[in-house]
Amino acid sequence: MVDRSTLFEAMGLGPVWTLRQGDARPTDSSVMGNVDLAELQQQVETCQACGLCKSRQQTVFADGQTNAPLMVVGEAPGAEEDATGLPFVGRAGQLLDRMLLAVGATRSSNTYIANVLKCRPPGNRDPEPSEIEQCLPYLHQQIQQVAPQAILLVGRFAMQALLRTDQAVGKLRGQVHWVELAGLRIPAVATYHPAYLLRRPEEKSKAWDDLLLLKQQVECLQGGLRRS
Ligand code: URA
Repeated sequence: MVDRSTLFEAMGLGPVWTLRQGDARPTDSSVMGNVDLAELQQQVETCQACGLCKSRQQTVFADGQTNAPLMVVGEAPGAEEDATGLPFVGRAGQLLDRMLLAVGATRSSNTYIANVLKCRPPGNRDPEPSEIEQCLPYLHQQIQQVAPQAILLVGRFAMQALLRTDQAVGKLRGQVHWVELAGLRIPAVATYHPAYLLRRPEEKSKAWDDLLLLKQQVECLQGGLRRS
């Protein structure tokens, strides 16, 4: 079990953690080795189902390992993600990486990261319900293909979209929920979005509790880092 001081350090509440060599995220989308996911990514790249296709620079499909035991679901690309085509690469993404690393999870070893929306809402506005409805089938497909052991839902849009609730993160965090999809029943833990944690660092300790709960749901995070 990871001790609390280690987790707090990783969250920036103590000495700053740096990524070890070998934990750097992949720099291209070669991780999309699975044919079905590759096809899905192509569909996303040409998607014009909602107005966001007009303002995007590029779509943001996913990052990480397609056979990962852990899947992280965020909200939508921001400016950096829109520019690079990878999810969670801005400041919030760097905090997310440090949080995941503290429980033994990295994009390069055992984690797959995607968003509810694949295109950036202009000016980083909140996703609209119609945009979420149009885009959600892509995320559902990703979950079915990756079939992770557990899902971390970061922020209210990920939580509300996959748990079909309108409750706030503060109400639903700290418990295990279930994402039920096409015969799969996957434990899911909701937590605060790292962008929120950057604004409200006093909430970080709750996010750490959520990560510890998540860790209990993923066998490989108990010991090694490989999917069993
Ligand atoms: N916030 C998200 O929810 N997703 C990203 O990819 C970047 C920021």
